[in-house]
Amino acid sequence: MREIVQRVKGTRDFYPEEMAFRTWLYGQIRIVSERFGYQEFDAPFLEKLELYAAKSGEELVKEQAFVFTDRGGSEVSLRPELTPSLARMVAQRQKELVYPLRLWSFGPFWRYEQPQKGRTREFFQWNIDLIGAAGHQADAELLSICADFFRQVGLTPQQVRINVNNRRLMDAQLQKIGVSEALKPLVFRMIDRRDKLRVDAWRTYGLEQGLTDKSIDLLVALLDDKTLWKASPELTEIFAILDRMGYADYFEFDPQVIRGLLYYTGTVFEARDAARDGRALLGGGRYENLVGDVGGDPLPGVGFAMGDVMIQVALEKYNLLPDLAVQPARIVVTCFDADSLAESYATAAEIRAAGLNTICYPEAVKLDKQLKYANRIGAKFVVIAGPDEVAAGKITVKDLEARTQTTVERGQLTAFLRSAGA
Ligand code: HAM
Repeated sequence: MREIVQRVKGTRDFYPEEMAFRTWLYGQIRIVSERFGYQEFDAPFLEKLELYAAKSGEELVKEQAFVFTDRGGSEVSLRPELTPSLARMVAQRQKELVYPLRLWSFGPFWRYEQPQKGRTREFFQWNIDLIGAAGHQADAELLSICADFFRQVGLTPQQVRINVNNRRLMDAQLQKIGVSEALKPLVFRMIDRRDKLRVDAWRTYGLEQGLTDKSIDLLVALLDDKTLWKASPELTEIFAILDRMGYADYFEFDPQVIRGLLYYTGTVFEARDAARDGRALLGGGRYENLVGDVGGDPLPGVGFAMGDVMIQVALEKYNLLPDLAVQPARIVVTCFDADSLAESYATAAEIRAAGLNTICYPEAVKLDKQLKYANRIGAKFVVIAGPDEVAAGKITVKDLEARTQTTVERGQLTAFLRSAGA
C-alpha cells in the first residue's frame, strides 16, 4: 500500500471537532473585541521581507520567518506577525483614518520554531491594537481587554496572570546598575531567557557575554524586586486605572517581562498560566515608532496578540473547553430505490426551504445502512418514503432518540418535523 503523505511539521489538521473549537474561539474574540468598539480587519498573508527587517528583531526575521524568493525574484515572507502589516496599512491611509483607531483581526501566522507544547509552526493569532492614542493611560484599555477576554472564557485570576513591565523603567534601572548602552540588548536578551535556562547556566551565559559576577548579582536583585513599578509613574497610573475597572486581580508587575520584539518602547506585557505552566498565552505592548519606521508619519500604537495554541492548553487544563456539537444535521432523508432518488432530493430540498438543516442519503443502498449512518452522525429524524406510502400520499418519520415512528400526510411533513422539535 502507498504511504499517506505526511503534513508539514508543526502544522495542524482541523477536523470538524478542531474546527468547531477554532470557530468558537473566533466568536469569543469577536464578542470581546466588539464590546470595546474595535473593528475587524485583515492584512495579506504574504509580505515583503523588508517589512519585518524594519523592527521585528533578528530572531523573528533571520531564524523564524518562512521566507522564499518568488518567481519575479522578490524576497517574500509568510507573515510571522501582524503588527508591521498593520503599521503599513495605517501609514498608507494615514490622513484618511479616524483616530484613535481601534482594530482587531484573527488569522494564520507562520514561524519556523521547534514544535513543542504550546508552539507550532502554523498558528492563529488574535491581534488587537489601538493606534494614535499617545497617553500611556490608553495601555490600560488593552490590558483590560486581556482581562475581559479571560473573564469571558471563564479563566480566573487564580488560573492566569497578566505580567506587566515598562521598557523605559528597565532602561533607567539598568543604567543605574551600570549596564552600558552597548550591553543593553544583550542584557534584555538575558532577562528574556532567565526562565528558560537553569540558574547556573544563565549566569554562565551572562559571564560569557561579558558581564561580571557583580553586575549579574545586581541584575538578579533588580529582577526579584517586585516593588520596582512604584518608580514608574506610568505603571502606577495604569495599575490604578485597572483597579478602578475591577480587573486588578489579573495583573502583576514583573520586571522580567521584556519581550523579544524590538519595536516596543513603553509598557510591555505577557499573560501566562498562574502556575507558570508553559509558554505565554499572549503578549504585547506600546510601540511609538513603528508607523514611522515603515514610512508613515510618527504615530504611537499599543496592542497585543494571543495565539490559539496555548489558550486551548489552558482551557483544557482548567476544564473550560466548551461542549461543542459537531452534529452536521438532525434530519436524514433516506433513498428507497434508484428510481425515487430524485424524489428524495426534492423532499430534502423542501425541508431545507423550511429552514431545517437536512442531509439526503445520496445512493440507493440498503435502508439498514442508511439508518446506521443516521445513527452514527447523531441525527434525530429519518424520513422514509416507501412505494406504499408514496401511493397513499404519505411519508414516515422515524425519531431515533424517542424510538418512535409516525406516518404523516405528505403535505404535513415539515409542519410535523417542526412540531416534533427538529
Ligand atoms: P508575540 O509575543 O510574538 O507577539 O506573539 C503573541 C502570541 O502569539 C504569543 O504569546 C503566543 O500565544 C502566540 N504565538 C507566537 N508564536 C507562536 C507559535 N510558534 N506557536 C503558537 N503560538 C504562538 C506578537 O506577535 C506581536 N506582534 C503582538 C502585538 C500586537 N504587539 C502589538 N500588537
